[in-house]
Amino acid sequence: MRVLVTGAQGCIGAWVTRSLRERQIDVVLFDREAGGERLRMLLPAAELDRIPAVTGAVEDTALIARIVREEGVTHIVHLAAALIPFCQAQPVEGALANVIGTLNIFAAARAARRPVRIVYASSAAVWGPEEFYGSGKVSEQDPLKPQTHYGVFKQANEGNARVFFQTDGISSIGLRPWSVYGVGRDQGLTADPTLAMRAAVAGEPYQIRLTGHMDLQYAEDVAEAFVRCLLSDLAGAHVFNLEGAVVTMEEVIQLIEELYPSARGLLSCAGPQVPVVCRMDGSALRSKIGGVPQTPLRDGIRDTLERFARLRGV
Ligand SMILES: NC(=O)c1ccc[n+]([C@@H]2O[C@H](COP(=O)([O-])OP(=O)(O)OC[C@H]3O[C@@H](n4cnc5c(N)ncnc54)[C@H](O)[C@@H]3O)[C@@H](O)[C@H]2O)c1
Repeated sequence: MRVLVTGAQGCIGAWVTRSLRERQIDVVLFDREAGGERLRMLLPAAELDRIPAVTGAVEDTALIARIVREEGVTHIVHLAAALIPFCQAQPVEGALANVIGTLNIFAAARAARRPVRIVYASSAAVWGPEEFYGSGKVSEQDPLKPQTHYGVFKQANEGNARVFFQTDGISSIGLRPWSVYGVGRDQGLTADPTLAMRAAVAGEPYQIRLTGHMDLQYAEDVAEAFVRCLLSDLAGAHVFNLEGAVVTMEEVIQLIEELYPSARGLLSCAGPQVPVVCRMDGSALRSKIGGVPQTPLRDGIRDTLERFARLRGV
């Protein structure tokens, strides 16, 4: 088994790499960046030095095909993507990375002429805003009504994954996180709860630039879900919601202050609500793939604050 992790230098990528290496699974890292900052937060430097890493763009069709063929890749966790603000500002470049990049992953799996299993990040951004849906949680059967280019690109990827199974028998699972938090989460529209935790530990003021509800999902749980999907033998092209804890930004601030009392008065929130329904039903994933954890929010925030404190040498 040899796993190609794309977007390995990102938040979820670093946590997925940690989880795979803890299982002694061979990995090849791929990312446009070579920085290693997030990986160094989670893996010992000596361990990191031993992992092969390739730098490049996922929209480079020939490069992706070559890596999958020549590195003996049997599984792919595909995470590399441009996030919402970039896709809104530059939809053409966003589509190249997110849609063409994902097609490249599946095409490389097909060209490998041996089974290659794919687990890829879709997103809750495939849903529309709260008012488009009735009360209750949205399940995988509800209609997708994305309101951003990014959400439309993710929906396209889910469709392309389905076609690759129908025509080429490539099994895949797409997972739809809502908002991931934990050390390493520092990019994208919904990184602010984590940035608030980091500021709390640094003793600095921070204003979360969003209000209203979010479904917060602990990075370690999200990584575990990706890895368990990768290790499962579920055939077909599946897409699952990921479910965490639905909370308001005021509740997040209150929890941080309870767990890190010196942060009292430093944190606030102001701004819009993210226009994506956040009551997602994650039961389909839990019934098809065993052992997907759901760390209680208080525990996940405590762990994150402790990790930030250790990283600061506090
Ligand atoms: N974090 C969340 O809350 C969340 C929610 C829903 C979906 N997702 C999806 O999960 C995946 C990972 O998200 P994350 O939070 O780790 O993001 P991140 O921004 O921390 O990491 C993304 C990584 O992809 C790399 N990348 C971007 N464009 C690339 C390209 N063209 N070629 C190669 N590498 C490229 C970046 O350098 C970065 O290291 C993404 O597909 C994202 O859309 C994340």
